[in-house]
Amino acid sequence: MNLLPKDKSIAQRCAVLGLDFDQNDIGEDVKSTIGAVKKFKSFNASATLDLGNSGTGIRLLSGYIAGSGKDCMLVGDESLSKRPMNRIAKPLNDWGAKISLFDDQFPPIKIKAAELKPEYFYDLKIPSAQIKSCLLLAALASKTKITISENTPSRDHTERMLEECEADIKREGKHIIFDGRKEIIHKFIDVPKDFSSAAYLIAANIITNKTIQLDNVGVNPTRTAFLDVLSEMGASIVLENTEIKSNEPRATIRSSATHELNGVTIEGRKIPNLIDEIPLIAILAMFAKGKTVVRDAKELRYKESDRISLLLSNMKKFDPNIGIIEYDDGFEIMPSTKKDTNTVNIMTGGDHRIIMSFVIASLGSGKKVTFDETSSVETSFPNFFEVISKWYQ
Ligand code: S3P
Repeated sequence: MNLLPKDKSIAQRCAVLGLDFDQNDIGEDVKSTIGAVKKFKSFNASATLDLGNSGTGIRLLSGYIAGSGKDCMLVGDESLSKRPMNRIAKPLNDWGAKISLFDDQFPPIKIKAAELKPEYFYDLKIPSAQIKSCLLLAALASKTKITISENTPSRDHTERMLEECEADIKREGKHIIFDGRKEIIHKFIDVPKDFSSAAYLIAANIITNKTIQLDNVGVNPTRTAFLDVLSEMGASIVLENTEIKSNEPRATIRSSATHELNGVTIEGRKIPNLIDEIPLIAILAMFAKGKTVVRDAKELRYKESDRISLLLSNMKKFDPNIGIIEYDDGFEIMPSTKKDTNTVNIMTGGDHRIIMSFVIASLGSGKKVTFDETSSVETSFPNFFEVISKWYQ
């Protein structure tokens, strides 16, 4: 049985690039992006596109639309409407686009038809695959050339997909050089299962001492630093049947607890390669021996919620005896040995990863958790609760 959803990052890139893929087992974010792309393609005059909760969708599509030289407005739900968009609007406007934001920062993103300069260089200071991909897609749609200097590597699904479609793209050291004038070949993309969704089940195995294997999970090295952290913490991780399809590696993952978990320190260049798994690492840290430290992760404050603040406030409620230090760019966790069994109500901030992380915490501790809402899990992992109750309860 494999109820994992398809990779959310790869599927949304397929949607924006107009590439075919099997659209079964996808979450709400991917559906929003598919819907917005369809609407954009069917409108001659300017359209308003609703990206729902999808930060990837709104940022990637904004780049593509700015490059296509059409008028458009992109909106999102309440949470997406609070997320920073100047990080894409500024480089696109410097390149020649005409984009305005609410309060110079937030959606709605209003794009006015404009021509991008034939060549552009961008020094990517924030290690963000969404910004990088937005700019690559703008170059593709505008048939222009871009060089991106990537100081800290982030997930490279867009580069791999363009390469798969025989685009003129190469990496030289820290530079990604892409000439959008060469037409891409439209291929069918075999999208693997989502590693970031699988991460919850990998953690569930470790914490409940089960050994359920997960098949055909995307194991792109720019996504899987979580596995290295688990090994460092003392878990056993085995990858089997590794193969590459559609230029993306995938494998069967077996995970189990060999002995007690240890605390870890995570910082620097590793962070972008496990950014979405940090809430889960914090939960595992509650069950480990010794201190866990996460630094250089300020980007967590700009996700579907301020993940540093929300995670830590809920952890304090979950275990009033835990030691926590909050930093602007991370935290320290000192697990406690005293256990209490009171039910905890988690404030989710409408953030799917906060909800799923505390479900794992509940599995590990036997402590009951309730949530102010759980529907946001649908954005990434629609079968999450079904899988948890079938396999782990
Ligand atoms: C994503 C990139 C990451 C990640 C997000 C998906 C993508 O965001 O947190 O869930 O598909 O490119 P940033 O690139 O903004 O760090």
